[in-house]
Amino acid sequence: MDTIHIRGARPLKGAIQISGAKNAALPLMTAALLTDEALTLTNVPQLTDVRSLIRLLGVLGSEIERVTGPHGDALTIRTATIRSTTAPYEIVSQFRASFWVLGPLVARCRTAKVSLPGGCAIGARPVDLYIKGLQKMGAEIDLVDGYVLANAPEGLKGAIIRLPIVSVGVTHTLMMAATLADGETIIENAAREPEVADLANCLVAMGARIQGIGTSTLRIEGVERLHGATHRVISDRIEAGTYAIAAAMTGGDVTLAGVEPEIFEAALSLLRAAGVGVDARQGEVRIFRNGERLQATNAVTQVYPGFPTDLQAQFMALMTTAAGESEITETIFENRFMHVQELARFGADISLHGDKALVRGVEKLKAAPVMASDLRASAALVIAGLAAEGETAINRVYHLDRGFERIEQKLCACGAEIWRAKAS
Ligand code: UD1
Repeated sequence: MDTIHIRGARPLKGAIQISGAKNAALPLMTAALLTDEALTLTNVPQLTDVRSLIRLLGVLGSEIERVTGPHGDALTIRTATIRSTTAPYEIVSQFRASFWVLGPLVARCRTAKVSLPGGCAIGARPVDLYIKGLQKMGAEIDLVDGYVLANAPEGLKGAIIRLPIVSVGVTHTLMMAATLADGETIIENAAREPEVADLANCLVAMGARIQGIGTSTLRIEGVERLHGATHRVISDRIEAGTYAIAAAMTGGDVTLAGVEPEIFEAALSLLRAAGVGVDARQGEVRIFRNGERLQATNAVTQVYPGFPTDLQAQFMALMTTAAGESEITETIFENRFMHVQELARFGADISLHGDKALVRGVEKLKAAPVMASDLRASAALVIAGLAAEGETAINRVYHLDRGFERIEQKLCACGAEIWRAKAS
């Protein structure tokens, strides 16, 4: 397995081009299953999750053409016929978003067999709400040998579905399923994440009838068929937030290009509160420090537009060297503190109390050998390594490659000493 090495304690200076959002690109790719015409997506990041989903779509019958550009790929996905309605364990166990083929498959083929998902080990991550939602739309669901079997011989029917908790994946899945259902579906307490709106906008471009995009009530009037479209993936607010935190942590001065500042405002306002300089303009955000120590700042993860759980680990890394004590509360996933013990290896002082982590700022971090436990936690370790004195080695970096495009190159271009040792 590859290892990432970082010689830290150097400020990041320069510009970083932010990629297309992984969490938008993946559901958008599954939407291609809803039509027999071509869906072209641009600004698609080069990530292992994208490659794995290309493989899965290929198994299901899609033909995919990929054109590599300087800023992301263009993917053209054409699924003239669905060859198989089974999404196998070997692929679905690798990343959670692959489970989302369930909605499009059952909507288009009236039947689907999808392995229970995998993905980051950040909590129980059940699928009960997917099942209940599709059942409300008339599907019969069975769980057999680790697979979800969904059947709707008469086709899906519109329904009123009130989600008891906000779920991004359930909203994606039910919204896609509803586009081809008979009648109107109303999803109440829907996720408002920008990636959900991006998917909805693409579905509308494909001929879907969706109202309430960007709000917590989505009304979807089913149509007979969807057609092809071309759609640009929105920028990755989690990648942008991660580099913003890295710049702040190292006392650097970095301009993030190709971003939509309004979609990661919650993170920017926390950075401002901690004493980080933030200059947000149209399409660009400059992050800088005036040399003073940052102030400990509390954070609570929330659904959008709140502070995202996917930046919690990175923000905790930032707080390890801030002056004072900060309390970080995780409300979305019940087991998302695996990075705490790894941050402790750098000399961080963090204690856990249920869903809260209490971070007592230390003067400096010291380099250490560490192990990445999940995708966003890996980014927190990179951030700590960039600030720590000495040489850090991060093991299990395949997690990083799932969600951060060309991370070493982007950081090197800003003066970081970071390199990858390939496993022999
Ligand atoms: C997506 C994101 C992930 C992010 C998360 C929350 C992608 C590929 N992944 O994951 O990066 O951290 O949103 O913003 O976009 N839940 C249930 N039952 C269900 C489904 C979910 O209880 O059937 C719970 C989950 O366990 C969790 C909460 O709902 O506690 C929110 O999770 P959800 O929004 O579904 O996360 P994902 O869509 O899996």
